[in-house]
Amino acid sequence: MVELEVVKWVSLVLAVVISSMFNGSYAAFNPASNYLIACGSSRNVTFQGRVFVPDSQQSSYVMKSQGNTAIATSNSNSNIPSPIFQSARIFPAITSYKFNIHQQGRHWIRLYFFPLPNSGNDLESAPITVVTDKFVLMNNFTFKNYNGSYLFKEYSVNVTSDTLTISFIPWNNLVSFVNAIEVVSVPDELIPDQALPVSQFAPSHGLSAFAFETVYRLNMGGPLITPQNDTLGRTWENDAKYLHVNSSAVNMSVNPATIKYPQSLVPEIAPNWVYATVDTMGDANVANLNFNITWVLPVDPNYFY
Ligand SMILES: *[C@@H]1O[C@H](CO)[C@@H](O)[C@H](O)[C@H]1NC(C)=O
Ligand SMILES: *[C@@H]1O[C@H](CO)[C@@H](O)[C@H](O)[C@H]1NC(C)=O
Ligand SMILES: *[C@@H]1O[C@H](CO)[C@@H](O)[C@H](O)[C@H]1NC(C)=O
Ligand SMILES: *[C@@H]1O[C@H](CO)[C@@H](O)[C@H](O)[C@H]1NC(C)=O
Ligand SMILES: *[C@@H]1O[C@H](CO)[C@@H](O)[C@H](O)[C@H]1NC(C)=O
Ligand SMILES: *[C@@H]1O[C@H](CO)[C@@H](O)[C@H](O)[C@H]1NC(C)=O
Ligand SMILES: *[C@@H]1O[C@H](CO)[C@@H](O)[C@H](O)[C@H]1NC(C)=O
Ligand SMILES: *[C@@H]1O[C@H](CO)[C@@H](O)[C@H](O)[C@H]1NC(C)=O
Repeated sequence: MVELEVVKWVSLVLAVVISSMFNGSYAAFNPASNYLIACGSSRNVTFQGRVFVPDSQQSSYVMKSQGNTAIATSNSNSNIPSPIFQSARIFPAITSYKFNIHQQGRHWIRLYFFPLPNSGNDLESAPITVVTDKFVLMNNFTFKNYNGSYLFKEYSVNVTSDTLTISFIPWNNLVSFVNAIEVVSVPDELIPDQALPVSQFAPSHGLSAFAFETVYRLNMGGPLITPQNDTLGRTWENDAKYLHVNSSAVNMSVNPATIKYPQSLVPEIAPNWVYATVDTMGDANVANLNFNITWVLPVDPNYFY
């Protein structure tokens, strides 16, 4: 039974690879809306091959605050995890960024946070609550209760009006803040309305009404893919560190240039490096019927939106 599952799984991976071998021609995706914003910055910031523009230079979006926002910048780069965190905008009161949406449909909303030291505010304790017109993205997050030094959040939201408002809501006389914001169109085909089950589960319908948050995006058996290697600006990490048993999987790969996308699939579905590598059974001749490849992905059980 378990062995069967594994066989099915391996053939599924192979099927994905083989179905990618057919020829297909395509034009590169050009997002209708593409906002990359370095909040509080006085100059353009190039990060992972993309240019983020200061939020003081608003063109097709507006920032409105019920108070006076402040900015924070680092005077030294030494302790900043990456250039996108060099500046932040600080919100003493509810503040909204309202974006013109040039084409309705799914959009990435990406948020970057790093509590800059010496900002004149205790950003470590700042509660971060972020909402859109329809969804709560973050609810009362603070770095005080978090192990990482910075935070990156990615959501996919179906925007069904001509504007999208992202609001930061401080609380209890404390400020809130953000370092950078992205709002970028996603091809509609990327997330269909219905998801087919892998095994005995029933299909899921009505996905287009949901907002999604990326928790993990793994490139099985392959390298880290950064936004400059993904036309949709996604990050894919290698799966090895999540393996339950390291030796249960070994990687295999083909030349990514040999990956061809069928006409029925938008090539933005995933970069060729995703299809060019696989995890296979660590030992194909294993006698143990319970052999399996298991990944352990930590999640926050107390998280709520
Ligand atoms: C900043 O980037 C924008 C968008 O790429 C560009 O139009 C603008 O000229 C840049 N400004 C500077 C000062 O480089
Ligand atoms: C936010 O979290 C803090 C603890 O970090 C808690 O004391 C406070 O009640 C929470 N506020 C809201 C509005 O949930
Ligand atoms: C933070 O790190 C400590 C020590 O490494 C660990 O015990 C704790 O579970 C971590 N907390 C979270 C929320 O990950
Ligand atoms: C977004 O929602 C609208 C209205 O429900 C729907 O017609 C459309 O197909 C959805 N788009 C995507 C990409 O899910
Ligand atoms: C496959 O695994 C080997 C050894 O673990 C590693 O050196 C290599 O970089 C991996 N290949 C890819 C494409 O990640
Ligand atoms: C990612 O893009 C950079 C710059 O374009 C390139 O040098 C690098 O080889 C690419 N990596 C992969 C895995 O495609
Ligand atoms: C398994 O691999 C991870 C990183 O991929 C490493 O940190 C860990 O030490 C390895 N465990 C064993 C038992 O080799
Ligand atoms: C998967 O393999 C591990 C050991 O590698 C074992 O502990 C576990 O019970 C197996 N799981 C299943 C569902 O057989």
